[in-house]
Amino acid sequence: MSADRVPVRAPKGTNDILPPGSFRWQELVRLAQDSFERAGYAPVETPTFEDTALFERGVGETSEVVTKQMYTFEDLGGRSLTLRPEGTAGVVRAVIEHSLDRGPLPIKLNYASWMFRQERPQKGRYRQFFQVGIEAMGTDHPTIDAEVIQVGDSFLRAAGATPTLLLNSIGHLADDCRTGYNRTLVGFLRDHEDELAPEDVKRIDTNPMRTFDSKEEKTIVVMASAPVITDHLCDACTEHFAQVKGYLDDLGVIYTLEPRLVRGLDYYTRTAFEFVWSGLGSQNAMGGGGRYDGLAEMLGGNPLPGIGFALGVDRILLALNEEHSSRGTREQEGFQGGPKVEVYFVAIGDEAAGEALRLATRLRLSGIGADLDHARRGMKGQMKDAARSGAKYAAILGDEELAAGQVTLRDLTTGEQERISITDLEARVRTG
Ligand code: HAM
Repeated sequence: MSADRVPVRAPKGTNDILPPGSFRWQELVRLAQDSFERAGYAPVETPTFEDTALFERGVGETSEVVTKQMYTFEDLGGRSLTLRPEGTAGVVRAVIEHSLDRGPLPIKLNYASWMFRQERPQKGRYRQFFQVGIEAMGTDHPTIDAEVIQVGDSFLRAAGATPTLLLNSIGHLADDCRTGYNRTLVGFLRDHEDELAPEDVKRIDTNPMRTFDSKEEKTIVVMASAPVITDHLCDACTEHFAQVKGYLDDLGVIYTLEPRLVRGLDYYTRTAFEFVWSGLGSQNAMGGGGRYDGLAEMLGGNPLPGIGFALGVDRILLALNEEHSSRGTREQEGFQGGPKVEVYFVAIGDEAAGEALRLATRLRLSGIGADLDHARRGMKGQMKDAARSGAKYAAILGDEELAAGQVTLRDLTTGEQERISITDLEARVRTG
């Protein structure tokens, strides 16, 4: 076979989202956007690619995302650009660039966007993946931390998931808080250097807390007795964390304190959290987030505290499918993604096909989902298509019906059918 006959395939680590799964996928995204907008988070769209410096400065030069996973390229003008590996840095950049921080605070935004990371693909880990998320900027009052976490938790539950919420505070950069703790941790890691996996030794000075994220068995054993940040928080961060927990308790949000939870991106301060589900295996995080009080300044803006989260849509759907197959239920309780066609026209003959197209168009324009056969299949084939379409009714148009200005309306669930006048069709479908 010549090279140009070899089928072109999608790049490694990417997914095509095809029907019928695409209905559920889109429904989940809509459910997220509705939940976020109901809590006052307005939609925002930012560019898919940004100046590479945005992520180097924002996400952090010691994070794996920046050092190993970015899709960076030079454009024809010689600029270094990067496909966004996450959404927070771009949103904060846009807020600063358009001076939203000079308007009413907090600024509350939500996004639903593709992200790109050059990771080794595996189940739940892709090179292009979709996140839904929210960001609240302009206050560090603990009520907003609780609000953000509650909004994420209740959306996941509305979708039918049962995540565990892990919660921590990782303090702020000051000698009496995380900076001092990091020195204590480096001392501990140096004392246990020969018991750690070699790649974890390399990171001791640049990013000691990331050692808690190591997947190496040797390191995990050592870290079980490592000092934890929550014992070294300054008074202000301890008080802030106590208030966040108090508000979450008030709201009935159930969380598990995890003093070893560190997040993979460098901008985090204080509140850090993750929604995990063990059935997902090693990629067990459905989503996560936290506070990033220093990020705006890192990007050249004025001080602007913020907090937010992002949830991985691919992983939520994986978790929902696995959770439900293990429980033996087919449909998700929380949301029903499915075709939106209510009436499928079955037309015999050219004249009937033209009438079916006219009637389907009229129904669509009045807000009722409708479809029809365009392949001129026989009656049996069209009835099969009607069933496959997910429609509630098949509207059958043959010579007799045409001559009488009528349609045979068949309820595809009960099998009952009746002849009605074409002029009554819309009203009949509406009353169900
Ligand atoms: P993150 O923890 O890097 O945080 O990503 C959030 C979620 O995106 C993960 O928990 C996971 O569900 C999904 N995700 C990440 N990488 C992949 C991948 N390669 N394949 C599939 N899903 C993936 C952030 O991105 C922060 N921007 C969250 C945030 C918002 N923090 C504050 N505001």
